[in-house]
Amino acid sequence: MALDIFKISGPVRLTGEVTISGSKNAALPIIAATILAPGKSTLCGVPNLSDIKVMCQLVENLGCKASIDNGTVTIDSTNIDNPFGDYEIVRKMRASVCILGPLLGRCGKVEVSMPGGCAIGYRPVDIHLRGLRELGAKIELKNGYIVAHANGGLKGANIFLGGPFGSSVLATANVLSASVLAKGKTIIDSAACEPEITDLAKCLKKMGAKISGIGSPQLTIKGVKKLKPIEHTVIPDRIEAGTFLAAAAITKGNLKLKNSRVDHLMAVIDKLRSMNVTVEQTKDGCEVVSNSLSKPTDITTLPYPGFPTDLQAQFMACLCLAKGNSVISEKIFPDRFMHVSELSRMAANLRKEGPHVIVSGVEKLIAAPVMASDLRASAALVLAALAAQGETIVNRVYHIDRGYEKIEEKLNACGAKIERQSI
Ligand code: UD1
Repeated sequence: MALDIFKISGPVRLTGEVTISGSKNAALPIIAATILAPGKSTLCGVPNLSDIKVMCQLVENLGCKASIDNGTVTIDSTNIDNPFGDYEIVRKMRASVCILGPLLGRCGKVEVSMPGGCAIGYRPVDIHLRGLRELGAKIELKNGYIVAHANGGLKGANIFLGGPFGSSVLATANVLSASVLAKGKTIIDSAACEPEITDLAKCLKKMGAKISGIGSPQLTIKGVKKLKPIEHTVIPDRIEAGTFLAAAAITKGNLKLKNSRVDHLMAVIDKLRSMNVTVEQTKDGCEVVSNSLSKPTDITTLPYPGFPTDLQAQFMACLCLAKGNSVISEKIFPDRFMHVSELSRMAANLRKEGPHVIVSGVEKLIAAPVMASDLRASAALVLAALAAQGETIVNRVYHIDRGYEKIEEKLNACGAKIERQSI
């Protein structure tokens, strides 16, 4: 693994145009779902990211052929002879767990490593397993692996998928993907409504699945006998778009985002407006303008259509420079605050109280060497560095490379001064 660092000189004001990439979190479960339809599926607009390569490697290990070429991923799932998700891959990427549902549906058996610890806090998979058990799967845990069988096939059921923090995105992906080939009717209540799940459901429909209620918390699935391969373009990445909106806000900049979906970002845009940042819809995206110091605002992360937890860190960075106090409450991952101590090293004034952080706006952030801890926390450090006085060194940039395609190139094209160095 290359241990690159970013050297970021600030402060800068970002202006210009950015093209948002396809959604990583939509592409991952969709790649997994192509397993359900024997043959060659083609996915377009897939970002060139390490997580996507890991998912392709995972499906190749199952016996599929996968190739990535300039945003197009082709998966030939004609043969699957090894329904096994190795610990060595799953430990690199938690989202590997989303092969569980598709493999059960296609092969009737699967063994996938149980995902381990994670920088953003405790992340169990009990909801995934509960949903699959309700479809008739027999599941046990053996030597760190989830071992599941569906002898005689899966059977439709009424399933409640809510958990202590509301719906679960990947549990919905797993149970939905498993149910499309189950016998009879499945109703999933408290399904996740994230646009990535809607995109997955649309793909499954293209494959021939019968699904209604797409985009709502109740999905009804009528099982079919077989599915056909598809061609599909994944939705734009709303978290990347939200990160660039935050980048414009923190640098008092003006950015035009191409290939972004305003309708997927309503809670985020609402917060930006209350921070005194203007966001207008354009033909293929939006334009964000921030001229003055941000007003403070309170943010609570929630399942979609609420404010996304994946933008909590980036918005905390912005609010560090707002004129007044803000409260950020994390309702999805209550321990997702690794960035708090790093932002504090850059002279932010933050106080953590359980799952809340009180952000007292400061006049300036000051550059410092900082450590990226997870994907979105590292994006927050990059944003803070763009607005901070001096040269910030962001260590462990590989975290950011998991989820942002060419981030330094995109930011530099708009006036940032970011240099990548391999150490
Ligand atoms: C997905 C996203 C991640 C995002 C998260 C929440 C992908 C690849 N990842 O992760 O970027 O931050 O949604 O929007 O799409 N939970 C349980 N038991 C379970 C499953 C989840 O208690 O079996 C809890 C989690 O700990 C968390 C909450 O439910 O508190 C929501 O997590 P979930 O939606 O499942 O996150 P992921 O799907 O893993």
